[in-house]
Amino acid sequence: MKQVYLDTFGCQMNVADTDRMELLLFHSGYIRTGEAQDADLILINTCSIRDKAEQKIYSLARNLKPLKEVNPDLILGFTGCLAQQEGEQFLEKMPFVDLVIGPDGVEHIVRLVDEVKEKNVPVVRTQFDTDTNYKIPELSGETPLKPGSTTFVNIIKGCDKYCTFCVVPFTRGREKSREVEEIEQEVRLLVSRGAREVVLLGQNVNAYGKRGLKRPVPFHELLYRIASISGLERLRFTTSHPKDFTRECISAYQDLDILVNHLHLPVQSGNNRILKEMRRMHTVEEYISIIEELKTAVPDMGLSTDIIVGYPGESESEFEDTLVLMEKIKFNNSYMFSYSPRPNTPAQDFPDSVPQSVKSARLQRTIELQKKLTLEQGEKFIGKEVDVLVESESFKSGADFRGRNAQYWSVNFTGDKRQISPGDMVKVVVEEASGHVLRGRGVL
Ligand code: SAH
Ligand code: F3S
Repeated sequence: MKQVYLDTFGCQMNVADTDRMELLLFHSGYIRTGEAQDADLILINTCSIRDKAEQKIYSLARNLKPLKEVNPDLILGFTGCLAQQEGEQFLEKMPFVDLVIGPDGVEHIVRLVDEVKEKNVPVVRTQFDTDTNYKIPELSGETPLKPGSTTFVNIIKGCDKYCTFCVVPFTRGREKSREVEEIEQEVRLLVSRGAREVVLLGQNVNAYGKRGLKRPVPFHELLYRIASISGLERLRFTTSHPKDFTRECISAYQDLDILVNHLHLPVQSGNNRILKEMRRMHTVEEYISIIEELKTAVPDMGLSTDIIVGYPGESESEFEDTLVLMEKIKFNNSYMFSYSPRPNTPAQDFPDSVPQSVKSARLQRTIELQKKLTLEQGEKFIGKEVDVLVESESFKSGADFRGRNAQYWSVNFTGDKRQISPGDMVKVVVEEASGHVLRGRGVL
């Protein structure tokens, strides 16, 4: 068999796309290797969400160039969002590259690799598909890949929200959902292969099923249907947009035991003017009201969010509103970013009076506050028993296993290796909290 080396940058959607390429290539005679220098085909699945991600990929591309010089038959390809954004320009910058493929080209990976081999010229493919829905037929059939105890399932691709700062609508195209039956079939297959937890994935999962399907299926209905699949023990989803987050979804948390008590709900800013400028289409008060309703319905809800600091024109007091909101909601975890101008997005043309040094200082303050909140939230688990889905053995000294509790905290714990294995649900008494990680002792 030939060997393919795959590397992934960016979000879970990219991880899922890389897995898809691995599967398709496996059926055409490629086996995955962890060593780039042994590979006949190298594919780097790229991200362009912020400038830093982009720079990392260009520097990796330069590092891979010598491999092409040693082995002229090597096919070197870049897939994903940066490939989509740059298209032909990527080749101009990196002329030694053979393949540039946007996210919608992933399903054609085998044909595109063959095209490079046959024609011996670089191939660029950045058109979006024209289907009304999103299909991953190969994932409902027999697959050779063994899922982990927790596994991701794409339900919708693309994004129609067009937040002013975000490149995703340009790199991943319009929202398209998969038919419920296809998703159910995939989940059943994954469960039969050992998966215990499924994370439903999309840029905006709450927009699921609105258009393009044989019959519209709202997101909460999908949750009820997936939750009824036997053998599945936990269900999660990410990411939600506050504007589309419905009351029915809150009811689903109450009704469905396997829908775990965790929600990742990006807020971006705690200031109404900035939210409006970002075109987030909701206010701070509306966000707080969703969270309050959710916390009333499900008291031990774990919450996480995304935050951008230093959006063009953000004043000191507008920034401080974000800190106030973080304190109020008490997120377990935040993914915090300094605003980075992106090609094609409206915000890149907005006058930006916030100097880089101020953005960095704001980011630092946000990180410090989140550290404190995380510690406070983590300490609440000390002495309590939590259910942990075991994902793997632990690499940490003094711990045997690692997994996650319902609220999505990483848990390292001691336990009997003769009795516990990945995929088991284990009761763990928490003894210590540090950073985002809890430590404890497994009690069967
Ligand atoms: N709904 C998506 C969001 C994708 S981007 C999801 O599935 O996660 C992830 C996060 O990156 C956003 O929520 C936002 O906080 C951040 N982000 C996006 N564009 C950015 C930019 N131009 N600068 C800084 N952060 C950005
Ligand atoms: Fe980006 Fe906003 Fe969609 S952050 S992915 S445009 S919801």
